Formats: sequence, structure tokens, C-alpha cells
Amino acid sequence: MTSEMPHIVIAVDGPAAAGKGTLSRRLSEHYGLRHLDTGLTYRATAKALLDRGLPLDDEDLAAEIARGLDLSGLDRSVLSAHDIGEAASRVAVMPKVRRALVEAQREFAGIEPGAVLDGRDIGTVVCPDALIKFYVTASPEVRARRRHDEIVGNGGEADLASILSDIEKRDARDTGRADSPLRPAPDAHLLDTTEMGIEAAFEAARHLVDAALER
Ligand code: C5P
Repeated sequence: MTSEMPHIVIAVDGPAAAGKGTLSRRLSEHYGLRHLDTGLTYRATAKALLDRGLPLDDEDLAAEIARGLDLSGLDRSVLSAHDIGEAASRVAVMPKVRRALVEAQREFAGIEPGAVLDGRDIGTVVCPDALIKFYVTASPEVRARRRHDEIVGNGGEADLASILSDIEKRDARDTGRADSPLRPAPDAHLLDTTEMGIEAAFEAARHLVDAALER
């Protein structure tokens, strides 16, 4: 990427297991941008509380942990555990936690040459002026199947019905919360990966980013 390139921020939002992580990684590699999975910031905050045996519903405590978070130390292999995701979605309803993490996420997005951020509120709250926004979705059944196959593919054991019920519970919490609920930004491009698959979604997204860069 040369210095003449504009500062590029690509926002990718959507519910759990819709394919936004893979899409964001592909876009960041293709355009030479850094990538932040903002879900990891909520997960790391929740894990720090769990590790210390602290309650998940003390907003001031959770916000203090969130403010001290080092974004360079986020370890996906540790943070991807199922119970951490569940705890993260509880911590994520608290406005003071969100404020602290959004500030860190904006700082990350502001560093040259720009970044791809994925999460739930990137296009609506964190980076409303992003060059381009995507909202990636898929039916709950397809998302549960993908999550199931991923766990089994990594040698783990998984029960499809309980994964589906967890996904539905998490969707309800993420879309129903008062602060920064999960919803598409009005100017987001919708990518439904139920049938098209993630590779086709990447191709569609790439064409849209190229067109936005030409404008
Ligand atoms: O995407 P991931 O499953 O890692 O996110 C974990 C939880 O963190 C989500 O269920 C959601 O409650 C919260 N989150 C959020 N805003 C973001 C990213 C994640 O509220 N931008």
C-alpha cells in the first residue's frame, strides 16, 4: 500500500458465526489493512473477570478492566471458548464497558493505513464514517451448523441443537440490548451467506470495496 492510498476503514457487522471473521481476514489481507475482531475485546474483558473470580455484572469493575486492556495481546485460541463468548455478551450490555472498548477500537481504526473491524456496532457506532460497511448474516440453522463443523473439525465434541439454542439466545441479547444493539447501519451492504458461502461473499465484498475506492 503506497502513501497515496486514502485511509481506509472497512466495517463488518453481523451476528455470531455468520462468516464475518473470515470475510474480514480476507479483506484485510487483500487490501493490506490491519484487522481487529472487536468481539475479542469483549471476550478478553469477560475472561479477565472470570479468571479473577469477579462478578460479571459490576459495571464499574468491568469498565476498569476494559480500560486497561492491551489490544496487542488478544489471543484468539484462548478467547474463542464457548463460555467466554457467553460471558462476553453479558459484559457487552454495560454502557461504561462499551465506551472504554469503543475508544480503543476507534484508536486502532485511526492508525494508517486503516483497518478492517468486525463486530456488532462498527458501522453504527464505532466507525460511522467508514469507507464501506457490510452486514453479514445467515440463517441461525446454517450458522449453528458452521460452528458445529468447526468445533468437530478441530477435534472437539459438539451438539448441534444446543449450539443452535445458544446462537438464538446470543442473537436475542445482542439485538435486544439498549446500548448499541446489533442492527445493520442504514448504508451497510447486506451479505447473506446462507446460500452463497463465504468465498462468494468475499468476491462480492471485494467488488464493492473496489467501486468505493474508485469514487
Ligand atoms: O463476535 P463474538 O462472538 O466474539 O462476540 C462476543 C460477544 O461480544 C457478542 O455476543 C456481543 O455481545 C459482544 N460484542 C459486541 N460488540 C462488538 C463485538 C462483540 O457487543 N462490536
